Amino acid sequence: MTNKLVVLASGTGSNFEAIAKACKDKKLNAKIELLIVNKQNAKAIDKAKKYGISYIYNDFKGENYYEIINVIKEISPTYIVLAGFLKVLKEDFVNTFYNKIINIHPSKLPQYKGLNAIKRAYENKDNEIGVTIHYVDEGVDTGKIISQEVVNVEGLNLEQAEEKVHKLEHKLYVETLKKLIEV
Ligand code: GRF
Repeated sequence: MTNKLVVLASGTGSNFEAIAKACKDKKLNAKIELLIVNKQNAKAIDKAKKYGISYIYNDFKGENYYEIINVIKEISPTYIVLAGFLKVLKEDFVNTFYNKIINIHPSKLPQYKGLNAIKRAYENKDNEIGVTIHYVDEGVDTGKIISQEVVNVEGLNLEQAEEKVHKLEHKLYVETLKKLIEV
């Protein structure tokens, strides 16, 4: 059985692309059924087109929230994967899909929750910057941790550090999903 995934993204979509590629290359026994973006100009849309993945836009506001819940229920995915999704999900959503929503965050949680985590760790002169995959609850980057790794950023400039962290993100997200769906 091929696992079904739904991905939620707001921006570039490099994590979405890493997962899409792993599915295409059969490194991950899963199919991304749908990409949902909450920004009309999200670059992730170009990646969906590139991989032939269906996508929809929804602002996750008011009644639209319930439309999204119904769309996802209809798909009944194994996991809902947040990949740079810059919106805190409402309790209703989290409760409906409890333990099925996972997120990636570029820090060694519980350190540096929230926005600009890499920059804050870098400016704090941390030698290592982490990546965490965790279940999503109603808080911001507070859910149960599934996996965590760090990279050494000593001697790198911010741009190089960001690149190294993103590379780890792409690897860890695919590896973690693989472990989750193969149990
Ligand atoms: C990643 O750093 C992810 O950890 C964070 O948002 C960023 C999204 O990047 N939640 P991308 O859109 O996947 O390129």
